Amino acid sequence: MSDLYPVKPEFAAKARIGKDDYQRLYRESVEDPEGFWAKAAERLDWFRKPTVIKDVSYKLEDFRIRWFADGELNASVNCLDRQLEKRGDKVAILFEPDDPSAPVQKVTYRQLYERVCKLGNALRNLGVGKGDRVTIYLPMIPDAVVAMLACARIGAIHSVVFGGFAPNSIADRVADCGSKLIITADEGLRGAKKIPLKANVDAALKLPGTNTVETVLVVRHTGGAVDMQAPRDRWFHDVVDGQPAQCEPERMNAEDPLFILYTSGSTGKPKGVLHTTGGYLLYASYTHEAIFDLREDDIYWCTADVGWVTGHSYIVYGPLANGATSLVFEGVPNYPSVSRFWEVIDKHQVTIFYTAPTAIRALMREGEAPVKKTSRSSLRLLGSVGEPINPEAWRWYYDVVGDGRCPIVDTWWQTETGGILISPLPGAVDLKPGSATVPFFGVRPALVDTDGRVLEGAAEGNLVLLDSWPGQMRTVYGDHQRFIDTYFRTYPGTYFTGDGCRRDEDGYYWITGRVDDVINVSGHRIGTAEVESALVAHPKVAEAAVVGFPHEIKGQGIYAYVTLKAGEQPSDELQKELVAWVRKEIGPIATPDHLQWAAGLPKTRSGKIMRRILRKIAENAPDQLGDTSTLADPSVVESLVSERKVK
Ligand code: PRX
Repeated sequence: MSDLYPVKPEFAAKARIGKDDYQRLYRESVEDPEGFWAKAAERLDWFRKPTVIKDVSYKLEDFRIRWFADGELNASVNCLDRQLEKRGDKVAILFEPDDPSAPVQKVTYRQLYERVCKLGNALRNLGVGKGDRVTIYLPMIPDAVVAMLACARIGAIHSVVFGGFAPNSIADRVADCGSKLIITADEGLRGAKKIPLKANVDAALKLPGTNTVETVLVVRHTGGAVDMQAPRDRWFHDVVDGQPAQCEPERMNAEDPLFILYTSGSTGKPKGVLHTTGGYLLYASYTHEAIFDLREDDIYWCTADVGWVTGHSYIVYGPLANGATSLVFEGVPNYPSVSRFWEVIDKHQVTIFYTAPTAIRALMREGEAPVKKTSRSSLRLLGSVGEPINPEAWRWYYDVVGDGRCPIVDTWWQTETGGILISPLPGAVDLKPGSATVPFFGVRPALVDTDGRVLEGAAEGNLVLLDSWPGQMRTVYGDHQRFIDTYFRTYPGTYFTGDGCRRDEDGYYWITGRVDDVINVSGHRIGTAEVESALVAHPKVAEAAVVGFPHEIKGQGIYAYVTLKAGEQPSDELQKELVAWVRKEIGPIATPDHLQWAAGLPKTRSGKIMRRILRKIAENAPDQLGDTSTLADPSVVESLVSERKVK
C-alpha cells in the first residue's frame, strides 16, 4: 500500500501553484522575506502603501514584531468596498440555517457592505470608536460576520466569544479587555437545541469586572423571550435599521489591533491573543487563496464557528478579502441526520469543504451509506484543521467523502499564528495521510530537543519557528511580558509552538500533539489549569488534577482526578454534580469525560503533581508509568491504578 498520494495531473494542470512554483517561491520567501512580502502586500488595498516591510527581532533584549509598519489600510474596505465594482452582486455569505427547511439567505457583497456600514454608524453613535473593545457573542448567522466587519470598519477591536461558553467565561473575557459593548442574540440554535445567549450575557454582566459594558445589542434571531434591561439593552434592529448605508472607514495603521481572541494556555486564565490589521489580513487572504487553490466560481465552506480562529481567518477575513462566496452554517453535522454535511454540499454545490478530524471521525462511525446517498460531485478540494488527523480517518475522508477525486489539505496552525503555517499546496505537494506536509511561504519550522538543540534531517522534537510571518500574533492583550515568556523564552531566538512534531526523510512534518498542559478536545484547546481551578472552586473539592487521554472521536478527552475535602463522601451524585459544575463554570466544551476519585495525588517530595503518571493511568497504560522513584508516597499510584474508571 502506497503512503503517497501524488498530485493528480488534472488538478495540477489548473492549479494556481504548481510544483516548480512552490519550490521557487518558497526559496524566494526565505531568502528575501522583505522582497517577497513587499510583493505579496500588493494584494491588499492600502490607503498608504507600506515602505517598511519587516521589522522583527526575537531576541529577548530587543524584542519586536512589526510588519508593514508605516502602511495604512482598513480590513473591511479590503473585504467589502473593493469588491463592489466587480463582485457587488456576487454572494459573499451563503447562509444555511440550522433547520434545513428554513430559508437560505444569500447576502451579496453590496448587501453585506450596506449592513456593515449601518452597524458601523450605529456603533459610532453609541460612542464606540477606534481602539474600543467590543465583545461578540452570537450564533453562526450572517450578523456575526457583519458585527466583526463593522468593528473593523470603525477601528474597534472585536473579541468574539464562542457561543458554547458559559457566563463565567464570558465575564472573564469581557473583564480582561474591558469591553464597552456586547453584541449578542436572543438565542442560538444548534440541532434543534436553543442556546440562551442573551440570558448568558445577563448572568455574565452580574459578575465582577464587567461594569465597563455600557450597551448590549441584541439580534432578534429565534424570537424567544428575553429580559431587556433599559437603558443598557437595545434591539439590534432598532439602532441599526435607520442608519445610512455608508460609513467612513477608519484609517488604520498596519500594526493597529484588529481583534483579540481568547485561547487556553497551559497555565492560568485564557490569553487574549492579539492580531493586528495589515499582516494578519494579508496572511489570511494569501494562505486562503493559495492553499485552497481558490477560483472565482468556488463555493467555499469552512464548518468552523466564528468563535474560533479558523472562523476568523477562513470564514470571514481570508475568503472575503479574496472576494469568495463563504458558506455560513448555523447547525451541527448530525441534525436532522448524519447526512447533513453532505446534503448541504449538494444543496449549495460546495466545491471546497474544510472541516475538523473530530467531525470526520464521528461521521465515519456512521458508515458509508449516509455519505453515499448524496452526490458530492461538486467537490474538488477537502481540508482538515484543528488536530492531527489519523491516517484511517484521512483515507475515509479521501475515498468516501471525496470519492478519491479531491486532494486533502491538512492545515496545521494555531490561534497565535493567525493563518496556516504548514499544509500542502494541493497542486504542488504530494500527500501523505496524517502529515500536514511542508511549510507555507516564509515559514521556517525547525525541531529542537529539550535542550534547544536544532535537530537536522529525519527527527522528532519540539516544533519551533525560526522567523516571523506577517500573520503572527503581536501580544497577549494587556500582558506583553506573558507573550514573551510563553512563546520566546523556552527556546531563545525562536517562537515555540507548544507542539511536538516528527519530520520524515522527505522533509514532511507530522504533528504529534501538544507537549504542554493543553488538551485538544475535538479541535478545541482546553487548559488543564482552567478545568482544575473550576473543580477546586466547588466547596467539596480539596484538590484536582486534569489530564488528556486518547478519545476515539474527540481526539483527546478530559480526565479529572478529584480529591474531596475531609469529611466529604464520594458518590455517583456528587460525580455528576461536579461534571455539571465544570460545564456551568466554563461551558459544555470543557465537560470532563471521566472523573476519578483520588484519595491522594501522586506528588514529588517538593509537592509537585506528577502529571506524566496521571496521564499514563488515564491512558490505561499502568505498565508505562516510568520512573516513580521521586514520588513522596508510591502507594497513591497503586490505588489510582486499581480504581481507574474506564476499563
Ligand atoms: O496542537 C495543534 C493543533 O491545534 C493547536 C492549535 O489550536 P488552536 O489555537 O485552537 O487552533 C486550532 C485551529 C487552527 C495546535 O497547537 N492543530 C491544529 N491544526 C492541526 C493541529 N495538529 C495537527 N494537525 C493539524 N492540522
